[in-house]
Amino acid sequence: MLDLSNFPGAKYYWHNGKILDWDSYAIHAMAHVAHYGSSVFEGIRAYETPRGPAIFRLKEHIDRFFYSASAINMEVPYPHDEISETCRMVVRKNQLNSAYIRPNLFYGYGNLGLTPHACPVNLTVGCWEWGAYLGEESLRNGVHTLLMPWKRFHPSQINASVKLGGLYVQSNIFATEARRLGYNEAVFLNIEDRISEGPGENIIIVKNGKLTTNDKAESVLEGITRTSIMTMAKNLGYETEIAPISVEDFLTADEAFFTGTAAEVTPITKITDSRDRNQTQEEWKTYQLGDGKPGKITLELAHLYQDIVRGKVAEYDHWLTYVYDTPEEAKSNLNGRVKALDPENV
Ligand SMILES: Cc1ncc(COP(=O)(O)O)c(C=O)c1O
Repeated sequence: MLDLSNFPGAKYYWHNGKILDWDSYAIHAMAHVAHYGSSVFEGIRAYETPRGPAIFRLKEHIDRFFYSASAINMEVPYPHDEISETCRMVVRKNQLNSAYIRPNLFYGYGNLGLTPHACPVNLTVGCWEWGAYLGEESLRNGVHTLLMPWKRFHPSQINASVKLGGLYVQSNIFATEARRLGYNEAVFLNIEDRISEGPGENIIIVKNGKLTTNDKAESVLEGITRTSIMTMAKNLGYETEIAPISVEDFLTADEAFFTGTAAEVTPITKITDSRDRNQTQEEWKTYQLGDGKPGKITLELAHLYQDIVRGKVAEYDHWLTYVYDTPEEAKSNLNGRVKALDPENV
């Protein structure tokens, strides 16, 4: 029996064309992926809107899914539009108003040599309700990050902008380590000793009203949230640039924040510098950004983002894919459980 107590999930998930009960599992312990991390995944969110749940930037996520698969020459057994439709369908099937959606392609059972020549490619799409990744508190008050001496892999080693399961071992280890040491999240360097990103989040800094973020040449996964926020900032009239971020730029920024599908827009208010491996934790220096509270521009963008994903900003409606064809269908399928579907809102 699975222990679902910490992760109850949802009612159902989709696997290779079939709907399975959440507590059933369809993968053998000798599947290739369980040994070598040979998977490709996406992380997507659907939010409650006045027209029922809507998926944020679905097309861009599925485009990246295919791009990541191409990086390991994995053949995707379903076309783009069917995978997009499956994402919509699993949210409907689970009758969720909001959801985190996880498509996952992986090499299954076939052979256990390193080259998965006899392993079928499986596709699973699951979804469940998932609150703020770093906690509700983090969105309001910001997070304390640990700048670590570890360097995220370099683009000369492997494409840094793809979501391959095995690549996340580095993120798993250092996100866990930062939390064990009492911080909310880790920040990686790149090989050139500049700032890379968080284990599952990009970083944007603000200095003198200008927003700066780095790109894949700096060992980051170029996130869809990051790109959306930079577009929104430009549309609001802020100066924006894609450029390397030095450690000094980060530690002396007026404001800084994480972006990511899971983390959304999370202000960074404190940074502890643990780069010097000869120092003890007591000797690490902590830097406060601004007055130690989430910055003004950070909050403006965070609020706008939350409004956009909830379908409140017509200008950005094209970023949303509605899960139901009509608001009426949403209402009847969700048994009127949608707060945002009050008649005056529709
Ligand atoms: C390593 C890493 N960086 C950044 C991000 C943010 O990307 P996105 O905004 O597309 O979710 C993610 C999450 O997918 C990630 O895993």
